[in-house]
Amino acid sequence: MSQTIYLKIKRKDEPNGESYWEEFEMPYRPHMNVISCLMEIQKNPMNAKGKKTAPVVWDAACLEEVCGSCTMVINGRVRQACSALIDNLSQPIVIEPMSKFPCIRDLRVDRSKMFESLKKVKAWVPIDGTHNLGPGPRMNPKDQQIAYELSRCMTCGCCLEACPQVNPHSDFIGAAPISQARLFNMHPTGKMYADERIDALMDKGGLGDCGNAQMCVEVCPKEIPLTTSIAEMEWEATKRMFKKLLWG
Ligand code: SF4
Ligand code: SF4
Ligand code: FES
Repeated sequence: MSQTIYLKIKRKDEPNGESYWEEFEMPYRPHMNVISCLMEIQKNPMNAKGKKTAPVVWDAACLEEVCGSCTMVINGRVRQACSALIDNLSQPIVIEPMSKFPCIRDLRVDRSKMFESLKKVKAWVPIDGTHNLGPGPRMNPKDQQIAYELSRCMTCGCCLEACPQVNPHSDFIGAAPISQARLFNMHPTGKMYADERIDALMDKGGLGDCGNAQMCVEVCPKEIPLTTSIAEMEWEATKRMFKKLLWG
């Protein structure tokens, strides 16, 4: 391993500004990851030409691949910067913001459209107002296991970034909200909104826009079975369509 780390970062000074590349170098230390490199730049904002520059802006919170906020494209692959170890990356390390979300500045993007989609599919259990409801309803262990896997989604955006159907010409909400609708439709209390969730998924930008390219499942850092979720919800949507045709 070289004793110097070389980074090439795609930057933008303001939301409507032009993107440009800036290169950085720093001494190698064992166990560094992309976030620790960005912190080094923050401490000493000097580019590879030795010129003082503005510190690079990025988001991070948990630093243990749980919150999803540090998601960016590193050497062409969308992933979390906090778990991207320098020892495992070829250099120069090329770092870009996700392209499917509006860039606010440098590596910081606005993921609110994912949270809006979660609202659209009512991705919550409807319990109102009290903490004294006693133990929750029981679920069988098989469903619990599936629900656990689905609940690991951290709304990081990797699945949207990788999906060819999520693009400026489409309203597709992407795989994560579809999978979350499945999670809450499985819940004994969450089921209360099951039909509304399916209706939302049958609407514009929903299941009909998925092209089944399966890129989402390949990039999900939590290994959520996204294509199974999409298939399950497509089946539920078909049943709902027939029900509506027969009974209105
Ligand atoms: S299956 Fe393909 S089109 Fe559908 S959400 Fe996943 S990546 Fe996008
Ligand atoms: S489904 Fe996976 S890739 Fe998509 S937002 Fe959730 S954790 Fe990220
Ligand atoms: S900082 Fe939370 S996932 Fe990286």
